[in-house]
Amino acid sequence: QAYNERESLYIALNFAKDFFVKNLHTEEGRAIGLSYFKERGFNQNIIEKFDLGYTLDGWDHLLKAAKEAGHSEEILLKAGLVLQKEGDPNRVYDRFRGRVTFTIHNLGGKPIGFGARILTQDKKQPKYINSPETEVYHKSDVLYGMFQAKKSIREKDNCYLVEGYTDVISMHLAGIENVVASSGTSLTENQIKLIKRFTDNVTVLFDGDAAGIKASLRGIDMLLEGGLNVKAVVFPDGDDPDSYSRKVGSQVFADYLVSNAQDFIAFKISLYADEAANDPVKRAELIKQVVQSLAKIPEPIIRSVYVRQSAKLLEIEEEIIQIELNKILLKVQ
Ligand code: GTP
Ligand code: MN
Ligand code: MN
Ligand code: MN
Ligand code: MN
Repeated sequence: QAYNERESLYIALNFAKDFFVKNLHTEEGRAIGLSYFKERGFNQNIIEKFDLGYTLDGWDHLLKAAKEAGHSEEILLKAGLVLQKEGDPNRVYDRFRGRVTFTIHNLGGKPIGFGARILTQDKKQPKYINSPETEVYHKSDVLYGMFQAKKSIREKDNCYLVEGYTDVISMHLAGIENVVASSGTSLTENQIKLIKRFTDNVTVLFDGDAAGIKASLRGIDMLLEGGLNVKAVVFPDGDDPDSYSRKVGSQVFADYLVSNAQDFIAFKISLYADEAANDPVKRAELIKQVVQSLAKIPEPIIRSVYVRQSAKLLEIEEEIIQIELNKILLKVQ
């Protein structure tokens, strides 16, 4: 049977997914990979739901098995599953070795790539290795977990946006399924359009560290620009949704999300509130920060609602905000 290249890539990626899943239940896989997942509280159900797997330690476990099953080196290379040897591009070897794997699915549930986490504390190696950009995996179009989340996002009419693979999985374990991950990179326009297919409401749950807060601020402005309603939840310093939900348990975690969701203005203000309280210069900076976000909102009526709310929260005249806002809006046009 003749397949075109895209079909061959899907078939190879599905073979790899099955292979990694199978390897999780080998002796090595159970001792290293499965015990790691169990330590993180991942049960058999969730392991199956997310096609979690393990890549055996070695240079060619996948390569050999895939070639035996009829997949060409060329297709394995184009699928991002193997790498060309430096100085000897005719030789290839497995990209993922001795790591646990997170299967990345397309909207239809087909595997299109993998994230692979290291299990040791080896600081010389990256914590995660991810599939490269391929013919079937356009990173800027994909949000991790969307296949498992889309139904729930529609039903709840809200999408939680987190940073990491494990945040998505832990939230499913906590009974919250309307969640996708940006996988640690900044949001793209297409990812925002993807969310918009299912809901107009996003709640950003980035890590409670400096990097997470910075990323969430950037993400919020992009989401606003995309015409989405944006809320944010801040986690205690050093926690992410995964660690926090495991720390406090599913019920407290779910309640925390509900009672700590702030709209983006309150979120921005809370970040600067301490500094701005007694310092007029900092206070002016904060007002400008808020105005900058307001300027991203494309819908004038929604924007005016938020102008009013910002004025209240910042305890200043609406007119002042409007004047600052006009400066930006008029510049853009
Ligand atoms: P755990 O430590 O397993 O809980 O992962 P995490 O998701 O909490 O990791 P972190 O907050 O550091 O990073 C968030 C996301 O960024 C990860 O889920 C990955 O998608 C991505 N990421 C993290 N580290 C790396 C890395 O070393 N290389 C690449 N390419 N991506 C990374
Ligand atoms: Mn394409
Ligand atoms: Mn982080
Ligand atoms: Mn994290
Ligand atoms: Mn984490």
